[in-house]
Amino acid sequence: MDPSKIEPTNLGLRAAAALARATQPDAAPSRPAPDAAPPGRWADMMAANPGHSAWYVERFRRMAASGADLVGEARLVDALAPRGARILDAGCGPGRHAGYLHRAGHTVVGVDLDPVLIEAAEADEPGPRYVVGDLTVVALPDDAPAEFDVISCAGNVMTFLHPDTRRPILARFAAWLAPGGRAVIGFGAGRGYPFEEFLADAAASGLGRHQLFSSWDLRPLEGSSDFIVALLSRDQD
Ligand SMILES: C[S@@+](CC[C@H](N)C(=O)[O-])C[C@H]1O[C@@H](n2cnc3c(N)ncnc32)[C@H](O)[C@@H]1O
Repeated sequence: MDPSKIEPTNLGLRAAAALARATQPDAAPSRPAPDAAPPGRWADMMAANPGHSAWYVERFRRMAASGADLVGEARLVDALAPRGARILDAGCGPGRHAGYLHRAGHTVVGVDLDPVLIEAAEADEPGPRYVVGDLTVVALPDDAPAEFDVISCAGNVMTFLHPDTRRPILARFAAWLAPGGRAVIGFGAGRGYPFEEFLADAAASGLGRHQLFSSWDLRPLEGSSDFIVALLSRDQD
């Protein structure tokens, strides 16, 4: 994806208001959240190219219509999860993984900063509980599970976060995991977040135990790998 190729259009007022809300902590959060989050690359992109989110939605709709396999990541998450699991899709975008996991019988919560993408998820992939919010500060609603068997963070989400929010978000993942649960995080190299730095951040955030791969079908991670899929467990498990 190259945002410089996107023609800007006007961000709808409703979406702008939802974005403003998403980056602020809930006035009466059901779970503690820190102060407002500094904007990361995705929020910067939304501000610079207001048509980007709609373009992104249409891009994935076109790929789905052409029969592309868009759920390889979700298949791994499903394989890791007990039946009827509680799954958090962190940075769920238009819901391609969340919808698949819901249809597989799991209780799925999808959180995403981008109100345009959440609107598309609700339309195209109904069933999960979708929440517009920044992972740094979002208060999960009271009707969401209090903890999760699997937290999935696919599609380079980690590389779009403001660097100052990476550790706080990883620490929130650790806090949201049920005993024995796992966070599954995948992203590409050359996107401003070296794998070693990510693993150090995970360890500093209570997710020090890991199994590492280079793809969502679990090929081994090697020195030359340009993608990482990390299965992270809490230190105490
Ligand atoms: C490339 S998209 C991937 C979407 C989805 N995970 C997928 O694989 O289709 C990156 C997503 O990260 C979300 N995102 C970026 N920063 C975020 C944050 N701080 N909190 C929540 N979502 C965030 C964006 O809104 C966007 O939907």
